[in-house]
Order: sequence, then structure tokens, then C-alpha cells
Amino acid sequence: MAEARETAIELIAQPLILPCGLTLPNRLVKCPMQETLANPPLFDPPVETFENLYSQWAGANYGLIITGQVQVDIRYLSIAGDVVCHDKALEEPHFSKWKRWAQIAQSGGTPCIVQLAHPGRMSPAGAGALDKVLGTPRAMTHEDIDAVVADWVRGAVVAREAGFKGCQLHGAHGFLLSQFLSPHTNRRTDEYGGTPDKRLRLLQRLVNEIREQCPTPYCLSVKLNSADYMAQGGLGQDEALEQVRWLVECGKVDFVEISGGNAENQSSKLHSSFGARSLLTAPKMSESTRIREAYFTEFAERVQGLNSDIPIQLSGGFRSRTGMADAIASGVCSLIGLGRSAVLEPTLPRSVLLNPQYDDDAALAQSHAIKGLWFANWFPVQVVGKGLAIQFFYHNMRRLGHGLKSDPDASIPWIVGVSIWETLTSGVLGNIQRALASWGGGSQVKGD
Ligand SMILES: Cc1cc2nc3c(=O)[nH]c(=O)nc-3n(C[C@H](O)[C@H](O)[C@H](O)COP(=O)(O)O)c2cc1C
Repeated sequence: MAEARETAIELIAQPLILPCGLTLPNRLVKCPMQETLANPPLFDPPVETFENLYSQWAGANYGLIITGQVQVDIRYLSIAGDVVCHDKALEEPHFSKWKRWAQIAQSGGTPCIVQLAHPGRMSPAGAGALDKVLGTPRAMTHEDIDAVVADWVRGAVVAREAGFKGCQLHGAHGFLLSQFLSPHTNRRTDEYGGTPDKRLRLLQRLVNEIREQCPTPYCLSVKLNSADYMAQGGLGQDEALEQVRWLVECGKVDFVEISGGNAENQSSKLHSSFGARSLLTAPKMSESTRIREAYFTEFAERVQGLNSDIPIQLSGGFRSRTGMADAIASGVCSLIGLGRSAVLEPTLPRSVLLNPQYDDDAALAQSHAIKGLWFANWFPVQVVGKGLAIQFFYHNMRRLGHGLKSDPDASIPWIVGVSIWETLTSGVLGNIQRALASWGGGSQVKGD
């Protein structure tokens, strides 16, 4: 008699043991998403708002939670409100906040890892500790590179000491690591640029040096682009595949998250609102063994061809239980990343995806289209226009942080109005700079 086929719920509910020994209770991962809730001057983890935000995710039955990106150098934030792991993070009163964050995020039994990042040329003026940090990007000196590696290693150690289960290096979406990995931005002619092998060198240094300080059972992950979709001279899939090959063969990395796009570029897909279309096209198990709703499936299939045992997390576009189960059943990935739906419906795994009371046809992330995007046309694009869609999700994460529910009906003009009102009523000049940096940052780091 043929073996009974696993149901869609069974497929996504399976535990997974990572190479470092960490057990993930199921296959659903809360994607890294910057919360924009930390406060100047030091941008420590904002414990009160994180209590509200992370306890929602902690109680939602994810298999893994990845924090929003944490900047490793306080001079360079990607957007105002990023958490920073600065050089006093292991000292009080800062360290207690890190420990508290780790406790809250893991209070439901799901492990949590910290995403570490550096925006490089994507740091907007006013977002960091300097008044003006954005200008024409310049090539980093060898001293700059050594310093940034040390900053990243410190971030990994702080995460471990605070009680997080590991870290993820943000190597996607056009931030510093992906600037090194892409020929579009890496124009160096020294040992860090000029050939695919050399463009990989900074990432290799980070993996090696973090592993020296943080051996297993510490979990080390990397998020990479499948391509950056820049019109000319960008990172193509062939080179991206070789980057993944190194990661899965180096014996030091526990899983690789695959994403795509460049925050500078419209085609990044990180900004498409997830509306009826993605729900209508979500496949049923009986229809197909391929996933059609995930954005980067084609590249994930090429990665599958590497025949590696290192788990792959695929992020971008997942909406339905059957689409997720299909992806796992086909072997194209082992973990499913949930980003925007984890903002609109923070408890989606527990309440819907893993809930047997919903049959497969009904187990979907909420249909959604952002209202009022026409408003973008009223603004000079270089200031806010291209970043408006992502502001909708920042707005809703801030609502969750303040103990409110996400508001799927919040329209872009309303969000802009709230932001201006908060800035004016706070009466603090510094906040004006912060808001400007935030909106300006939205345009520059729109994919993230
Ligand atoms: C508001 C917001 C913030 C994000 N911040 C990050 C981040 O800090 N680091 C990162 O790697 N990706 C970030 N992303 C991308 C997500 O991790 C994910 O790759 C993307 O949203 C696609 O998944 P989805 O289709 O489920 O939303 C962010 C996305 C959103 C919407």
C-alpha cells in the first residue's frame, strides 16, 4: 500500500534541526524587518515597545524569529529608529536591554537570532549619530574594513551573551555586504574586488571570524540576494549561485536565507503590495508540485541543484499554506520566510497556517492592498515617493509596538499626516531631523 502523503499542515509543522544543533519547532520563519522604534542617541533595544511587538511574535508559533536589522556602527543607520549594537552594548545600562529583548522574543519557546547589518552607501543623512553622513560614497580603506569586521564580530558576541541563539548577516538588498558582493557597486581593484572570488572576500572574513568567536551551538546564518536586478552590471544569478555554493560548502553556516532585489531598484519586489493577485494565483497541492507565489523560486531551484544539506530559507511572496507546503515538499527550500504578513497578522502561524480549523483553501494570509499610494506622486521621488509603501509596514510595526493592532486600512496620506503630527507635537527639533531622515531613508532603503 502506498504511503499516505503528508498534509500541508504536517509539512510546514515539521521541526528542523540545524547543523549547529538548534531545533526549530516548525518551518515558518518571521523574517527580519527593521522595527524603526529605537531612540537616539544610542539606539539601544527599546524594551517597552519591543515588549509589545516581540511578545506577539513570540506567542505565535513561528519556528524561528529573526530580528530586524541591527546596525553594527552607530554612525551609519539605514533609517532612523534602527537598533544599534554600539561599542558599549556589553556594559550597563545597555546590556540589560539586550538581555530583556532576548527574553521577550523567546518567551514562547521559539528561538530568536539577531540580524546584523551595515547600510554602507545606503545610510541617509541624519539617521545616524552624525549630522550629515550621506555624501558621495567612497571606497573603504583597509582600516575601515578591519573596523567593520570587528564591529560585526562584536554584534555576534553581544547577541550570544544576551541569550539570543545566534545571528544572521544581512548580505542582501543593497546594503554594505551586498555592495561588496555586487559588481554594480564593488568597483575595487584590491583583494576585495575585481573578480567574483574577491567580491566574496568580506563575507568570507565575516563568516570565518564570527565562527572563531562564536562556535556551535551558536547559529550563524546569511541572507543573500538571488540577484540584485540592476539594469546593467549588477549581480547576476550565476555569480549569486557561486556565493551560495561557498556558504553551503564552508561548513560554518547553519542556513541561508534567499531573497532578492536592491533597495535602490523598483524591481526589487519588496514593495509590491500583496493584493488579491497573489492570493488568486496561490496554488493548491493538487494542482502543482511547484510554487508559484514565491518570488525567487527559480533561483532556489538552482540552489537545490547544489545538493547541499544546509537548509535554505526562501523569503518573498508566500501567502498560502499550500504554497508553503508545496515549496517544502518539492525540496526547493526547508524554511519559509514571512515578512509583510507577519506585520499585518503577527500571529498568522498559530491563528491560521498551523490551525487545523482552517482547511487548506482558507489558510491564507490576509488579502491586502495599500491604500493611497497615489499620494507618492505628490512628493519629489528622491525625498519620499519610492519609500511610501514600506512606510505602511513601518507604521503598522510601530502600532504593534505601542500596544495597538495593525491597521490594514491605514492609507498613505494618513500615515504621512500622523508622522508630521507626531513630529510637530513632540516639540523637539531633533525629532524633525529624525522624521526627515526617516522619510529620506525610506526612499533610499525602500527595499528594506
Ligand atoms: C517593513 C519591512 C522591513 C524590512 N526590513 C528588513 C530587514 O531589516 N532586513 C532584511 O533582511 N529584510 C528586511 N525586509 C525584507 C523582508 O525580510 C522580506 O525579505 C520581504 O518582506 C519579503 O517577504 P514578504 O513577501 O513575506 O513580505 C523588510 C521588509 C519590510 C516590509
